[in-house]
Amino acid sequence: MRQIMRWRKALELSQPAVETVASIGIAAGLLWCSARKMSFNSFVALNAGMAMLYPAFKSMSRIYLMMQKCLASTSKVFELLDREPAINDSPTAKTLPRVRGEISFREVSFTYGGETPAVTQIDLNIPPGTTCALVGASGAGKTTLLALLQRLYMSCQAYSC
Ligand SMILES: Nc1ncnc2c1ncn2[C@@H]1O[C@H](COP(=O)(O)OP(=O)(O)OP(=O)(O)O)[C@@H](O)[C@H]1O
Ligand SMILES: [Mg+2]
Repeated sequence: MRQIMRWRKALELSQPAVETVASIGIAAGLLWCSARKMSFNSFVALNAGMAMLYPAFKSMSRIYLMMQKCLASTSKVFELLDREPAINDSPTAKTLPRVRGEISFREVSFTYGGETPAVTQIDLNIPPGTTCALVGASGAGKTTLLALLQRLYMSCQAYSC
């Protein structure tokens, strides 16, 4: 968050900085023209050249900032990828063969850490290729069962698919 704020601040500061430098450049160009007693045609050509170069310089100043932002975002992604997963396979875990799509919960219980379990002793069998609806009051444990199925948490009992 701090990196993004710093990037935003730099981006907001870059525009006035570029404008200031461009104004100084144009003023210096005009002074140079008057000092050298340049013809009207050359003066117009110089002005046109500076006007054409200005947007290019402006976008170049943004490229560096965009690169900084990309680097910050990429390092966040790698930080996430390098994290040790909280749930690991048991060393004796078997390789999952091709699944048929059957979902089976056997005496599944789970608690989020509090005294009251979120789900208790759930037995459920959903045959492959069928559609099933989990219906229950708010707090009954529907989302918890789906989270367990995706292995976002580890249950104390067995479930398979
Ligand atoms: N992250 C959590 N930390 C602690 N307790 C939780 C957490 N998520 C859910 N619970 C508790 O687990 C129980 C089951 O919640 P769950 O969200 O699975 O119910 P639900 O059936 O999906 O409810 P809803 O219909 O409101 O979505 C509830 O008592 C709830 O307070
Ligand atoms: Mg829910």
